[in-house]
Amino acid sequence: FVSRQFQQGDMIFLQGDPGQALYLIETGRVRIYVQEDSGQETSVIYYTTGDIFGEMSVIDGLPRSASAVALDGTVVLMLGRDRLRGHLRTMPQLAYNFMQALSVRVRYSTLQVGSRTLLDVPARLARKLVELAQLHGQVAADGVRLNVTLTQSELASLIGATRESINKALGHLKREGVIRLDQNQITILDPDALRELSS
Ligand code: CMP
Repeated sequence: FVSRQFQQGDMIFLQGDPGQALYLIETGRVRIYVQEDSGQETSVIYYTTGDIFGEMSVIDGLPRSASAVALDGTVVLMLGRDRLRGHLRTMPQLAYNFMQALSVRVRYSTLQVGSRTLLDVPARLARKLVELAQLHGQVAADGVRLNVTLTQSELASLIGATRESINKALGHLKREGVIRLDQNQITILDPDALRELSS
């Protein structure tokens, strides 16, 4: 691996770039997003410490499927295409783990497609919060704290909604005692109610 450091807001790569390496996040946060022809950005997913991204181009040889931007000061470890391919050839378990990880990502995309077209904003938000709790939840005295801070605009971009509609939906969840909000830090106080709302 080769280590590289990015400042908050730095582009790591752009959609359409050739993909020469995959990235493992040592510390920090990365937003993956796609840009429509109209210029509008939609977030695909947020990655954080321990996550891998940029693997798709390295495996299939096609251009980057999305752009990656550092959300905080971020340190990544980069592994070049030839090295990865060499390791995948000699270590079947690594290849299998990769297939598992890719399969999880396809499932994630399938869920996104379903929820974007079928569910309204409050249900999509509830589903996203349940998903974030599974990925980044930490048990606290009164519930599950999401160990990832997202602004309302970031949350909106993740579920394909406007910031205003997210603000309204978060306010509703707060009034109902389902979540607590401290700045952009969300604690889920009533996971059952949230799960109920997400279907
Ligand atoms: P790559 O196509 O090389 O560059 C963009 C990266 O974003 C991609 O590899 C994946 O690591 C990540 N990415 C793109 N689409 C998805 C998705 N649907 N789910 C999870 N990660 C994705």
